[in-house]
Amino acid sequence: MKPRVLVTRHVYRAALDRLAPHADVEYVDQREVLTEDELAARLADKDAVLCQLTDRITARVLDAAPRLRIVANIAVGYDNVDVAAATERGVLVSNTPGVLTETTADFTFALLLAAARRVVEADGFVRAGRWRCWEIDLLCGTDVHGKTLGIVGMGRIGRAVAARARGFGMRLLHANRRPVEVPGSTRVALDELLARADFVSLHVPAEPGAPPLIGARELALMQRTAILVNTARGAIVDEQALVDALRAGRIAGAALDVFAHEPHVPETLLGMPNVVLAPHLGSATVETRTRMATMAADNMVACLRGERPPNLVDERAFARRRP
Ligand code: DGY
Repeated sequence: MKPRVLVTRHVYRAALDRLAPHADVEYVDQREVLTEDELAARLADKDAVLCQLTDRITARVLDAAPRLRIVANIAVGYDNVDVAAATERGVLVSNTPGVLTETTADFTFALLLAAARRVVEADGFVRAGRWRCWEIDLLCGTDVHGKTLGIVGMGRIGRAVAARARGFGMRLLHANRRPVEVPGSTRVALDELLARADFVSLHVPAEPGAPPLIGARELALMQRTAILVNTARGAIVDEQALVDALRAGRIAGAALDVFAHEPHVPETLLGMPNVVLAPHLGSATVETRTRMATMAADNMVACLRGERPPNLVDERAFARRRP
């Protein structure tokens, strides 16, 4: 008998094609997110789950899935999965690192440029028929070239953002737990980065249960002219503190792709012209999302064949894996 797997939401066909020869697939081809109860019920007889960052794979869900061998998450981030609880139960967790690096860095730069040069405001202005003639100070933004970009978290995506920033003639600072060498960038403490950068871009993972890295104190360290860009996770920033800082003009603007309680976006942000908003699109190209989905499927297939999946989040889980 083939192993039974659950695919929790609508996904690219290429991923399903990878699974079909190896498993009996229960495909929930819907856009809605399964609740914890629904996940628990559907996983009761499953050996594996191909899930998305909207699926909460909690200890309770894991307890309801006694046969589960792998949670194959279609994302590089895995804050939606209780990894410690999974490892404890001998369930592997895999993610999709690497394939979305360049795409996410592109989008980070798109947001940075949009916020600096007021692209969204300009588009709305033209569409609303408000353009009468060229004016010396019409919708003037701020330069990107020659400015300082502070990168918080110099992992794969941080480095790819740094490469783009060099091409744009920016100066670079980074804050990272471990020392890392990055051409043209100086490692400084987070506080110093916040105080010196014209643009601050966040590229650290969300640590479940940890307080936000950027709160009122950190925002107060930033320059009044600075712009905050977040394409990592909403939980890294204290959203209310950010709203307060923007409202009070303590920072000049923000470009946000991620939010603390997606898809909820604080009402106040919706009315702020100096804020650019996107619905978690960092990796959203057809090529990259397809690669993420097939990579997750490949991780699952490896597990079902008794092999070590290439992208385990916690390597230690392999030694404890279920038969
Ligand atoms: C990820 O993979 O973690 C991204 O947030 C999805 O775009």
